[in-house]
Amino acid sequence: MKKQLLGNFMDPVQWLDDEVLASGLTRFVSILPYLTRPEDLVLAFREILLPIRSHLPPAFIPLLLAERLSPCCFAFLLKQSLPFIASRFVAGNGLKEILKVTRRYKREGFEVNLDILGEMVLSEKEAEQYAEAYQNLISELRHHVPFGTISLSCKVSAFFSQSSATAPEYAAEKILERLTPVVEAVSKEGGHVYLDAEEYERQEIHFLVFQHLYKKFGNCVRFVLQAYLRGGGDLFEKLCELHVPETPLHVRLVRGAYWDYEHYRAELQCWSKPPVFSVKEETDKQYLSILRLGLLKGVRIVPATHNAASIVKAEKLLRENRGTSNLAPLIPEFQFLYGMGEPYGKILVNKNIPVRFYMPVIYPKGNLSHAVGYLVRRLVENRSQMSFMVKHRGKKLDKALELLGPIEQREKGGPR
Ligand code: FAD
Ligand code: 2OP
Repeated sequence: MKKQLLGNFMDPVQWLDDEVLASGLTRFVSILPYLTRPEDLVLAFREILLPIRSHLPPAFIPLLLAERLSPCCFAFLLKQSLPFIASRFVAGNGLKEILKVTRRYKREGFEVNLDILGEMVLSEKEAEQYAEAYQNLISELRHHVPFGTISLSCKVSAFFSQSSATAPEYAAEKILERLTPVVEAVSKEGGHVYLDAEEYERQEIHFLVFQHLYKKFGNCVRFVLQAYLRGGGDLFEKLCELHVPETPLHVRLVRGAYWDYEHYRAELQCWSKPPVFSVKEETDKQYLSILRLGLLKGVRIVPATHNAASIVKAEKLLRENRGTSNLAPLIPEFQFLYGMGEPYGKILVNKNIPVRFYMPVIYPKGNLSHAVGYLVRRLVENRSQMSFMVKHRGKKLDKALELLGPIEQREKGGPR
């Protein structure tokens, strides 16, 4: 009991239950990469977190003391504490940690998918470094993992710093110059690469890049589709037109991680409505309809969600498909995010269902500035009352699965 209480105090995700603290922390973390001088770090802390000091958990006591002592002391302590918050969501920093966490997850029966953190690149030098990091990681991994097991994710936008939605063909061409050699290297190792879905404004570039690589490398390259997109159904139809049965299209199906951003941007641009749904049930409905449609079309759908209702439904579809097809299962595996989906993963692995974890990593070993975009998305997501994980936080997840009741009842609009 004592251990659990301490665990809650020390788990940054539990802090997010306090809306005031959650909002302050998200603001503070999101500006950290732009502050290099210790004096500016102290100023930001005073401006954002001091006014809400009564909400800060005991883990912040050393920072509160250091803030009074000296900016250098404060900056030093902050540098020590950030990895603690980040390690809740970031799987490893540098090759040694990446291999260690990979082996640990493999021992638990999971496969892994590595994503090198770094997005919104601002210069061509950064884009070059991002591509180079993937090349180097592949070269190192091949000495440590069995052939055919390298699985990567990448943010297409990070391969070219001047991508613009108004010139998608040009952006795709420039991205492909750097991304093609990466996919080629993975393909030689018998692995695969997922092209992560990003903001709506990058959708066309994302599609063009995928189309080119899928034609060239087959399903060594894989798509990520966001169910929250109003045009998600049409995008999926367009995608299915590319499907080649000999090297079947693989689609990781997610709900979408940029919901707040898309609403904010639509408001800023005075669009009549955002490109993503505003009602959660519409996203949930489209998630299931794309899942079902994909199976009908023979496309491989990889459910990537922490929503128990979707997992239960997908698992049922997987069992039905296993019985009727002598081909590889149309749902080859389930995917979860490191630090969030482990309880689900264990349940599925115990049922002999393959599970892969998305592992955001820093490579080569370095500072945490590349992790900020990802961290902020996880912080925002983990305080959204629309999130399934938030609604059921505190309850054991197998209990949450039970809570959902029989599938048929939920489909008729029963309790969620
Ligand atoms: P829930 O907790 O049930 O739903 C939360 C989601 O519902 C929100 O994230 C949002 O998409 C949607 N939502 C919330 N409120 C509303 C509303 N009012 N109206 C409409 N919709 C709403 N995301 C990407 O964008 N790109 C990726 O490449 C990507 N890769 C991922 C890989 C893995 C392995 C996993 C597990 C997730 C990935 N995600 C990605 C994140 C994903 O999109 C979700 O943000 C996250 O999983 C939470 O959604 P959920 O399905 O777990 O369900
Ligand atoms: C993200 O970066 C997991 O791709 C998803 O938020």
